[in-house]
Amino acid sequence: MTDESKRLLYLEAMEIDVWLPKTNHGAPITEHALEKDKPLLSSPSSEAEIWQELREEVANCQACDLYKTRTQTVFGTGNTHADWLLIGEAPGQNEDLQGEPFVGKAGQLLNEMLRAINLSREQVFIANILKCRPPNNRDPKPEEVSACSDFLQRQIDLLKPKIILAVGRIAAQQLLKTTEPIGKLRGKVYFLDAIPVIVIYHPAYLLRSLLEKRKAWQDLQLALKTYREI
Ligand code: URA
Repeated sequence: MTDESKRLLYLEAMEIDVWLPKTNHGAPITEHALEKDKPLLSSPSSEAEIWQELREEVANCQACDLYKTRTQTVFGTGNTHADWLLIGEAPGQNEDLQGEPFVGKAGQLLNEMLRAINLSREQVFIANILKCRPPNNRDPKPEEVSACSDFLQRQIDLLKPKIILAVGRIAAQQLLKTTEPIGKLRGKVYFLDAIPVIVIYHPAYLLRSLLEKRKAWQDLQLALKTYREI
């Protein structure tokens, strides 16, 4: 590596923009540019830019067949510095139309559940396993989950949440890579890359089974206790 290449690397590491002519009679200017296949005029991306790039990638995604039937992708919403990340299953009809997760009646109940532990929707980040609606709200197919999983992982990496709530059976099973029923999964603390994960009932299920509301309350208390102990 030449001294000039080294100098450029140090400057880049210090996040100092380096302006270079584009060509040197057709030859590459730095070994570094060649090695990393980066544009010569690169400036380090801010966190907001990285979120925006990810958002655009999701919006343009055609990695599985769901792009053919979606109205729009549902990236996720909320505070990109939140401690709490809620992960649901996939957009439903309302979410597909509005581009936001958990709208409609289930969304309202989710907001109430958050309020029960003194959180607002604006204080948390809400995302889904899938960014596109499966037709007729059918369960996600394994190939759809694997096509979408990188997006969720990148959201988790960017957000660095202190706690994750897996909302509903599908989200819990996918995140924890298990086929255990939700009744067995709830009530315990799991870890994903050292981030505690609590399984909670899906609000759409709670709307149908009011008897489970007490358990839902217990799950939220467990989440709060876990968060406070981190
Ligand atoms: N159900 C989910 O799991 N996610 C949504 O965004 C809406 C309903």
